[in-house]
Amino acid sequence: MDARAVIARLRQGKMPSAAELDAFAKGLATGAVTDAQAGAFAMAVCLRGLGEAGRVALTRAMRDSGTLLAWDLPGPVIDKHSTGGVGDCISLLLAPALAACGAYVPMISGRGLGHTGGTLDKLEAIPGLRVALTPDQLRAQMETTRCAIVSASAEIAPADRRLYAIRDVTGTVDSIDLITASILSKKLAAGLEGLVLDVKVGSGAFMKTMAEAEALARALVSTAQGAGCMTTALITDMSQPLATAAGNALEVIEVMETLTGTSVNAALWELTAALGGEALALGGLAADADDGAARIEQALESGHAAEYFGRMVAAQGGPADFVERWPDRLPSAPVLREVPAPRAGFVVTVDGTALGQAVVHLGGGRLRDGDRVNPSVGLSDMAGIGEEVSRDLPLAMVHAATEADAEAAVRAVQAAYGFGDRAPDEPPLVHGRIA
Ligand code: URA
Repeated sequence: MDARAVIARLRQGKMPSAAELDAFAKGLATGAVTDAQAGAFAMAVCLRGLGEAGRVALTRAMRDSGTLLAWDLPGPVIDKHSTGGVGDCISLLLAPALAACGAYVPMISGRGLGHTGGTLDKLEAIPGLRVALTPDQLRAQMETTRCAIVSASAEIAPADRRLYAIRDVTGTVDSIDLITASILSKKLAAGLEGLVLDVKVGSGAFMKTMAEAEALARALVSTAQGAGCMTTALITDMSQPLATAAGNALEVIEVMETLTGTSVNAALWELTAALGGEALALGGLAADADDGAARIEQALESGHAAEYFGRMVAAQGGPADFVERWPDRLPSAPVLREVPAPRAGFVVTVDGTALGQAVVHLGGGRLRDGDRVNPSVGLSDMAGIGEEVSRDLPLAMVHAATEADAEAAVRAVQAAYGFGDRAPDEPPLVHGRIA
């Protein structure tokens, strides 16, 4: 395979063959395809698209670039994946909640991508925690702990691991074809029986309109089902950050508050139940999605989900007493600043992408491939749509490494908010369902 020819053909709007995409994905995995070629490939796909057949072929090629996991466990192997948003820390709640309900959850997750946060970066805010497990280690953890949140290792969908990092720094994230192939290559390689997809729509998502989100949801569901994995998608709101915090350790704090019941975030709770309900129904552990949601709520309320979270953290090298001692175990930033509201009124719009970018610029995400992420920085106490603010009621708190970073973030956050004199309707959490 000549990578240059594949890229040139894509650039002209012509589809490479399945065999060529297969060879390109293998080249991504082995390093035979260079970073420059991978970036050019991603840009050509973004600009020209692959069409349905090409998307399916790329997904299969990336899935087959490494090991395919197979399971022999006494319960269903199910999972969920989000298309990415700001303050979206649902995976940290959902994986242990599903495990507490009897499911096995080998969750292969990603790092921050563009302006969105990554589950792995959030989890790594916990000192000592490892996300790079070999397939054998993952298998052993499934048997003892029922859930794991891990990276796509050198063995599992390695083509995605490489392309994902390159897309993150080449402005080539928001393509339906690339997102579908990226998400599903990992998920299909993990040998799942059922998958629920959280397709985000709105200012903080890659898909800004319902039409785009629906197109992505349909592409994901049909590609996954075509590959033999029962899949449902919920289209969920990202017109504002999901949690009130955005940033790695800050989101873990919000997760722990919700898991331990010390301060429950209603949006995190409700969406965890909705997505988990769908997943349990797919796995045959609930009669339907409503019954499944009730079971997830029970796992959260009873503390069973928190127990499974603690076991998962310990199994992956984090502190054994994390659930009891999390406030002492997480890093905090040296500079804390309030963001004063520029005027009094009600929050009517929130530019989630701008807030996500503010977190990236604070050091909570990557501007260049290989950048180290600072786990302690980010935003907390962010005001939501419909909330009343005034000059005395701050819009958010900035957690920064330096005064200069904090100053820039204060200005970015102020610019990300729109105000009005009347409270608008609050957006629903779930906009639609595709099955
Ligand atoms: N999540 C992924 O794993 N890949 C994408 O491309 C977007 C979100």
